Amino acid sequence: MGRRPFVAGNWKMHNTLAGARELMRGLRDGFDTSWPVDVAVCPPNPLLYPMGKEVDGTAIKVGAQNVHFEAQGAFTGEISPEMLKHAGCTYVIVGHSERRQIFGETGQFLRKKVSAALKEGLEVIYCVGETLNERENNATIRVIERQLGEGLEASIDLSRVTIAYEPVWAIGTGRQATPDQAQEVHAFIREKIGGVFGPREAGEIRILYGGSVKPSNAEGLLSCPDVDGALVGGACLVADDFLSIISTAARTKTS
Ligand code: 13P
Repeated sequence: MGRRPFVAGNWKMHNTLAGARELMRGLRDGFDTSWPVDVAVCPPNPLLYPMGKEVDGTAIKVGAQNVHFEAQGAFTGEISPEMLKHAGCTYVIVGHSERRQIFGETGQFLRKKVSAALKEGLEVIYCVGETLNERENNATIRVIERQLGEGLEASIDLSRVTIAYEPVWAIGTGRQATPDQAQEVHAFIREKIGGVFGPREAGEIRILYGGSVKPSNAEGLLSCPDVDGALVGGACLVADDFLSIISTAARTKTS
């Protein structure tokens, strides 16, 4: 069986309760349950529980944007995998480039987060991506390889991991990777996973593209054989735009 498409929305630091409810209800009401696609929404932490309630009993799942690897303790400002689970999360994003760049999260740190989240039964969306400088210096493949190796221990249960390729230069810039650029990196990621985890794992793992995905460019990106879905930032803050990307994934990946 082919890989089921997956579209996740990363709200980043946007929305308060009233606006979030409106957005989530728009999404819930517009989502066609016959679309063969997995959907997740990742709101800021204070909205996880109420947003989980909004989509309770529907196919839309909620995820967090970050997690700490310790189970509990004196870690002011941090949230444990168990807390996310109890707040209703199915997914958690780990290693987003904004966490790496702005908050200095290192590979070693991220590896612990991935393992701790999986241990708690969460599904992980692990992000990788090169900067513009790295791309221009032909370092893209090397950077992606390093980030994969740092974050994903060979002993983890990869069936609950999704990888998101998000070129840093394409995030929030309106400048997307071309389908060829995305396909090249996605194919490399799959090959690399095959080498470390095995051919079955490589064939089954879902690799999402993220970086300025919008309704107008979704089809081209999602048509690539190794692009299994999208991790959407800005466009997921508008219900109709996010629904359009979801329906494009359902149509493109299953036709
Ligand atoms: P944009 O879609 O706003 O470029 O953000 C992508 C992203 O970072 C999703 O995690």
